Amino acid sequence: MNTNFIIRGFGHYAPEKVLTNADLEKIVETNDEWITTRTGIKQRHIAAEDQAASDMACEAAKHALAQAGMKAEELTHIVCGTFTPDSMVPSTACRIQEKLGIKGQMCVDVAAACSGFLYAMQTARGYLMLEPDAKILVVTTEVISRFLNWEDRTTCVLFGDAAGAAILTSGTDDEDAPRVVDITLGADGKLGDLLTVNGGGSAWAYAKGDVVGDDHFVKMQGREIFKHAVRNMCAMSDKVLTRNGLSKEDVDVLIPHQANWRIIDAVARKFEIPEEKVFCNIAKYGNTSAASVPLALSEAVTEGFIKKGDLVLMPTFGGGFTWGAGLIRF
Ligand SMILES: CC(C)(COP(=O)(O)OP(=O)(O)OC[C@H]1O[C@@H](n2cnc3c(N)ncnc32)[C@H](O)[C@@H]1OP(=O)(O)O)[C@@H](O)C(=O)NCCC(=O)NCCS
Repeated sequence: MNTNFIIRGFGHYAPEKVLTNADLEKIVETNDEWITTRTGIKQRHIAAEDQAASDMACEAAKHALAQAGMKAEELTHIVCGTFTPDSMVPSTACRIQEKLGIKGQMCVDVAAACSGFLYAMQTARGYLMLEPDAKILVVTTEVISRFLNWEDRTTCVLFGDAAGAAILTSGTDDEDAPRVVDITLGADGKLGDLLTVNGGGSAWAYAKGDVVGDDHFVKMQGREIFKHAVRNMCAMSDKVLTRNGLSKEDVDVLIPHQANWRIIDAVARKFEIPEEKVFCNIAKYGNTSAASVPLALSEAVTEGFIKKGDLVLMPTFGGGFTWGAGLIRF
């Protein structure tokens, strides 16, 4: 039996505080012109001191549940994608469950950095094949601001905090709702050192009383990442389209991981997708890692950018190195 993977609702959340490029000029040696021309970012949102990844996830989840017309109690699984979890233990998914005031669901975190949404969705699709009656909250959330070295201009200007969510269930063939057509994923651990937050892990453990070092924060080889990002996003997009008997002409909307406008533009050019079909909100949010794709999807739905019947292509890449591409038919 073929399972239909229906998305019942989308949600997103960005914290109130906004940090503009002009604000950053007061923190590190940078300027609005450099950031804008190299990345397309104009501002990013920053979590309040008392906000953890799970708090933002709950806000996005509540919107998605409301759009789905569902109560949190109806959920059977929570799959959370994040590389900035509340803590090592318990999982952020368990924290989200507690904060939603529910219990009993299977709760699991997925770590795939910026490909986190597609990895979490694929995990959820697997659960749905095992349990067709499942009602799954797929939520991705990042408080990257807490893992940035605010003295390192090569990283701190790029990222922002946000959360995005989707409710996934099975459905019937004739149902009039957005459905996941396919997702393809991959990774190459040999490229892991291109983007790291090592400190505190078992291979880079801290002892009691140690001062936190640079390894506690995001470190990145930007130029190298750029090349791999474009190459793998294109390869994954090709793969997912081809195996579904589709071509680039069939793509109505491109919603790639929002890391850098130049990367998005390079992928769009390769696929000959005109700018008016590309949804890009990087100017407002920066790179929000695992949250970026559902944040963009949710905004694109709210703003009416995506129309009924549209085929949406979502290529991603992220630390690990991980990559993937997904297709949703609205
Ligand atoms: C990070 C990135 C924007 C840098 O752009 P770039 O064109 O490759 O720039 P470079 O790193 O070559 O740096 C060019 C110069 O700008 C300087 N620079 C770096 N950050 C700067 C900043 N915030 N403000 C001003 N100057 C800066 C560098 O020091 C360098 O100066 P130099 O030539 O005197 O050495 C780009 O490589 C990128 O987006 N890579 C992908 C990163 C990514 O997506 N990471 C997340 C993975 S999910």
